[in-house]
Order: sequence, then C-alpha cells, then structure tokens
Amino acid sequence: MAEDRDLVEEGGPEPQERAQEGQNQQGSQGLLGTTISRRAFLTGAVAGGAVGVVATSGVIAVAGGALPQAPGLPGAPARPSGEPVDAQLITLNVNGKDYEVYAKANKTLLEALRQDLGLTGTKLGCNYSECSACTVLVDGVAINSCSSLAVREQGKKIITIEGMEKDGKLHPVQQAFWDHMGFQCGFCTPGQIMRTVALLNRAPNPSDDLIRRELSGNLCKCGAYAFIFAAVKDAATKMKSA
Ligand code: FES
Ligand code: FES
Repeated sequence: MAEDRDLVEEGGPEPQERAQEGQNQQGSQGLLGTTISRRAFLTGAVAGGAVGVVATSGVIAVAGGALPQAPGLPGAPARPSGEPVDAQLITLNVNGKDYEVYAKANKTLLEALRQDLGLTGTKLGCNYSECSACTVLVDGVAINSCSSLAVREQGKKIITIEGMEKDGKLHPVQQAFWDHMGFQCGFCTPGQIMRTVALLNRAPNPSDDLIRRELSGNLCKCGAYAFIFAAVKDAATKMKSA
C-alpha cells in the first residue's frame, strides 16, 4: 500500500518483512507504545483512542489523558483526571465565597458557575449574548456570563441568583417577582431578577422608560413582560423599605 510506505522509517524492517506485515495485518509496536495494525492506524479505528498525529511538529495528541500533565500551580491540588492539561487553577469569588476551579482560557464564567460550581440557577439560553438568561452581577454590574471569560473575573465579586436569598428570606426583588407572578416558565427569571437588582442599586427611582430600556435585553419567550414590568416597579418600593 502506498500509505504503508509513508509510515516506513529508516532502519525499519526490510521490504519483504513489511509486505508480510501488510498481508497478515499483524499488530506492530507504534509510536504510542500500543499494539496496532497499520490498517487500523490509517483508518483511525484504533481501539483506545489514538486520535491524531501531527507529524510536522512531532506532537502526538492522544485522547484519554495519555499526554503528560502540565505542572500545577504551587500548592495546587492534583489536577483531577479529565481536566484539560492546559487548564489553569483559578479562584472565583461567588456569593461571598472563594472557589478554586480549573479553567482553560476559553472557559466562560457561565460554564464555571454551572458546570464546576453546580450553580445552575443561572441559565444558558443562546450562549451568544442575545437573551441575557445568563445575567449575573460582577462587582455590582449586570453582565452576560455566557460571554465573559472565567479567568477575567478573578478578584471580582460575583453574585448569582443563589446569592440573593438571605437567612431563608427572599431578596425584595425576588419577592416582588413572586408577588406579581413576573414569570411563566421561569427560565428567564433569574436573569430578569439580577438585571433588576443592578438597576435598582444604581437607580432606586427608575422611570418607566429606564426600566424598559434596562431590561430590554432580557428576553422572555413566554412574553410575561407586563408582569415583569409590574414586578420591577414594586421591587423599587420594596427595596426602599427593606
Ligand atoms: S445565554 Fe447568555 S445572553 Fe443568552
Ligand atoms: S418566563 Fe418563560 S422565558 Fe420568561
């Protein structure tokens, strides 16, 4: 086979031996230290997951964690199996507590919150900064966590919907949404509440126009906008007396 020739290295077996190998499809000891047949190697069907060879750079990428682990940060806990080798240990302050999570450079804050910390109250909608279902507070500012990198949020105070209730008591904005049924399915509700908290902290007496403008990016596929608006108006009153 022509492909077989490409795999032959100097100092390898003689042509006759290679031909014999090709015919009987016996296994051969490959670069990865595993016994594979040439046919299986070429078709990418090697059991155990050899998924790619970059011959030009000499880098061999192997699925299943066979690559050597990068050294961790000083004092860092052992990297759990399955964590990418290029993930860094970072610290996120969420709802008043510090959490250490492994994060590649492209891990979003939303992924860290939901997948690493299990804080699934923050919702994944579009994952594209279009719906604001993923709204959280970072240093008091409402942001779309699906479009923010986790590594960039280190050293900041992150508040999610789980951090709103205190001592078993709903936050005044949560209470207002409850009182006015400012939701239908509830999927957008955590984002609506977090956006409202940011607004009322900044503008305790918002005009109707300001409310509409501030919440215009928080989409509600149920169309509960009239109830959400009423909830925000009432939340402004409740916040003052809280
Ligand atoms: S999920 Fe983040 S904006 Fe839609
Ligand atoms: S209540 Fe269902 S998406 Fe808003």
